[in-house]
Amino acid sequence: MHPMLTIAVRAARKAGHIIARGFSELDLVKTTNKSENDYVTNIDHAAEAAIIEVIKTSYPEHSFVGEEGGEQTGKRTDYQWVIDPLDGTTNFVRGVPHFAVSIALRVKGKTELGVVYDPIRDELFTACRGKGAQLDEFRIRVASAKDLNGTLLATGFPFKYKSHTPAYLETFNALFQFTADIRRAGSAALDLAYVAAGRVDGYWELGLKPWDTAAGELIVREAGGVVTDFVGGHNYLVSGNIVAGNTKVVANILKTIQPHLTDALKR
Ligand code: IPD
Ligand code: CA
Ligand code: CA
Repeated sequence: MHPMLTIAVRAARKAGHIIARGFSELDLVKTTNKSENDYVTNIDHAAEAAIIEVIKTSYPEHSFVGEEGGEQTGKRTDYQWVIDPLDGTTNFVRGVPHFAVSIALRVKGKTELGVVYDPIRDELFTACRGKGAQLDEFRIRVASAKDLNGTLLATGFPFKYKSHTPAYLETFNALFQFTADIRRAGSAALDLAYVAAGRVDGYWELGLKPWDTAAGELIVREAGGVVTDFVGGHNYLVSGNIVAGNTKVVANILKTIQPHLTDALKR
């Protein structure tokens, strides 16, 4: 294993341990609102601090961007760790056992490794650029659907951007005509990891942040899939609009949703 991946996995497991313990004593968890419908807990903060501490022990000069702590610029600005310590906080606080730790390393702006860890199922999704993707020690690949017929898709609802609901629901309606079903499970990092593992055929969501997608995006690509923004480009880390799946599924999702996008979403 790449030495930096070993460290990322160690950090993810440590955060996972903090999260699992917090989940078993939910009545002790302190939840606050960051903004409307957007929650953060003391566990999110503790998990992020633990991840950064583990990585800094080995790489004290690296830089960090974490959902809760923001940017920490180290001497090495070319090495940046992108961290979502707890992706799926709403599930966590409501006792729904579906959430993950997401850690990616970007070197000179390129994602080199990604880890998505589900502490409840003890499932570890990893990828190193050019080396494929794994679930635990097993190689994973995206599913082989040739079009959208009979597919199972994942999505997220735009609960932070409710002005986009009408356009989003049009995309949902258009895709739903073809699919077997659609899941809204509540963790973007796991949605991407599940695309990589072939558990779902494709995924789309709008308005995500880089820490939601940085690790999962590499895991999908290393599992043979593609990730684009809503116009088939690579601007998703900026726009937050993401489509993932195998080449044919992504092409079909793009073709199906594009007639329904407002100008603000055409990116
Ligand atoms: C959220 C989850 C959710 C997605 C939201 C994200 P958080 O992350 O990934 O599935 O729909 O947009 O913000 O806030 O739980 O880390
Ligand atoms: Ca997140
Ligand atoms: Ca989070």
